[in-house]
Amino acid sequence: SAEMVQVTPFLLVLSLALMAHGLSERKCMLTGRWINDLGSNMTIGDLNRKGEFAGSYHTAVTATNNEIQLSPLQGSQHRTNQKSQPTFGFTVNWKFSDSITVFTGQCFVDDEGKEVLKTMWLLRSRVDNIKDDWKATRVGINIFTRLHSQKE
Ligand code: BTN
Repeated sequence: SAEMVQVTPFLLVLSLALMAHGLSERKCMLTGRWINDLGSNMTIGDLNRKGEFAGSYHTAVTATNNEIQLSPLQGSQHRTNQKSQPTFGFTVNWKFSDSITVFTGQCFVDDEGKEVLKTMWLLRSRVDNIKDDWKATRVGINIFTRLHSQKE
């Protein structure tokens, strides 16, 4: 019929577009090794069924005069597997200072297919007196890209 002549090529183009989208869609995965804009490195382990993970953080910089040491991190990812660009948060408990940093962010796949973690952080330092509380928290952003990134 006349309708079929018009509908068939439409469905063909639609299915090709959906297939191409399916092939190009890359999930952003937190597991692995990352480096940020300060040169800090972190390793994130496998996620459990609840989206929780552990890892280690090697910072390139410190607000202290102490010698930098590898420090543990613990975090969780939102709704594992349901969304391809998940939100997450993690805490680093610094082994060489009395400070704690919390990071929150989202794992994106950029237009070149490369994964990038866009984060914000709060670094809480210990102060001796409550009167110094006002100056105890630093804030910033960090952008992480995958270390030794290998596609497929
Ligand atoms: C400290 O100095 O007491 C601990 C190290 C803090 C390093 C901070 S955390 C936020 C920022 N991003 C990094 O990779 N390093 C700094």
